[in-house]
Amino acid sequence: MAFRSLFAIPRQLLTETTSLGGRSAFSSQLRCNQRGLATVVPPVTQNATGSKGPTAIVFMNMGGPSTTDEVEDFLSRLFADGDLIPLGRLQSYIGPLIARRRTSKIQKQYASIGGGSPIRKWSEYQCAEMCKLLDKISPETAPHKPYVAFRYAAPLTETMYKQLFADGFGNGKGGRAVAFTQYPQYSCSTTGSSLNELWKWRNRLEGKRPNGGSEPAGAIQWSVIDRWPSHSGLVEAFAQNIEAQLKTYPEEKRDQVVLLFSAHSLPMSVVNRGDTYPAEVAATVHAVMQRLKFKNPYRLCWQSQVGPSAWLGAQTADTVQEYVKRGQTDLILIPIAFTSDHIETLFELDQEVIHDANNPGVKRAESLNGNPVFIQALADIARDHLQKGELCSTQMTLRCQGCTSERCLGQKKFFAGQEHASMVV
Ligand code: FES
Repeated sequence: MAFRSLFAIPRQLLTETTSLGGRSAFSSQLRCNQRGLATVVPPVTQNATGSKGPTAIVFMNMGGPSTTDEVEDFLSRLFADGDLIPLGRLQSYIGPLIARRRTSKIQKQYASIGGGSPIRKWSEYQCAEMCKLLDKISPETAPHKPYVAFRYAAPLTETMYKQLFADGFGNGKGGRAVAFTQYPQYSCSTTGSSLNELWKWRNRLEGKRPNGGSEPAGAIQWSVIDRWPSHSGLVEAFAQNIEAQLKTYPEEKRDQVVLLFSAHSLPMSVVNRGDTYPAEVAATVHAVMQRLKFKNPYRLCWQSQVGPSAWLGAQTADTVQEYVKRGQTDLILIPIAFTSDHIETLFELDQEVIHDANNPGVKRAESLNGNPVFIQALADIARDHLQKGELCSTQMTLRCQGCTSERCLGQKKFFAGQEHASMVV
């Protein structure tokens, strides 16, 4: 199975020999910055008196190449991220080399799903639609302005930050922004990495705030929605998509269809460090099954493992093959850890796992994409966050038991705020 899901990397990227000659991550980022944001928002005027708005809502996700020409830049950044793929001291050297070596093959995979990842299209749509709802259900923090910040593809975090400045946030004008992770289940490899990146650019562009000290005057006031694995709206959206797919089976067989929830795997070294992701994915699965009244048998399995080290299993592809071999040929795959289609659903599940099963009973539930129930859930989550006035969840203040990263420590102290910085250990 290819390693292209949570980390969007095909397995071959790590298993094949690399060669010299990759383009630098810096030049890649520069080109990406020049492309700019697709989400254009009008300038806003900061007026803190009498209103809590405007509010910037920033969707954070890993992103993906929108065209095959962007694949190498995407892979270069991805392999340069030590939070995601720890490659040691030579990370910035080895990463681009692996990326360059793999670009051609991955371009073909993106070509086979329509020429690029749809994640930018869906993220921008979801965020814009959510902000419209939020204007109605949280008028006191309106207007809400949509932004997208991807970790490895345009629009990058620094591009988003500069757009905030251009739109009247920060740079002496203050204003409020919410970093809203689009990974429902928290992992230090995903949401943690995006927050590390946001913290880095915030410090570069607005000046460092000493831990325990006060914010520089006129800086953006950040808060974070860092996880929402069992929110009722998310659960409802997943459940409705599963029910829609179940209806395609004959009624007499419907309750025997096995539901296979598939999430991106993690290396066991990350799991054993204390990462909360496996428990949070399991929480989503349990909540969805509860909503479905546990009518069907189900399992949680993990996709996209790569390389020789131990990863969290059982693997999705092996699970499907094994059940089909035993005669259980009615299976629905449910991508449970991503909020829109991406190469891991459109290529890995559809063109590999389901294709290889070679049985019409093996199907996939639709991804959340433009699902209105899901977009309403996003708006409800954001409204609740704004009303509570919290900076981040209590859970985010606790570092993994095995974490030795000063970057994690600094980032968490920053987002926890002055009042709760001392909770971060
Ligand atoms: Fe989890 Fe640092 S690795 S908090």
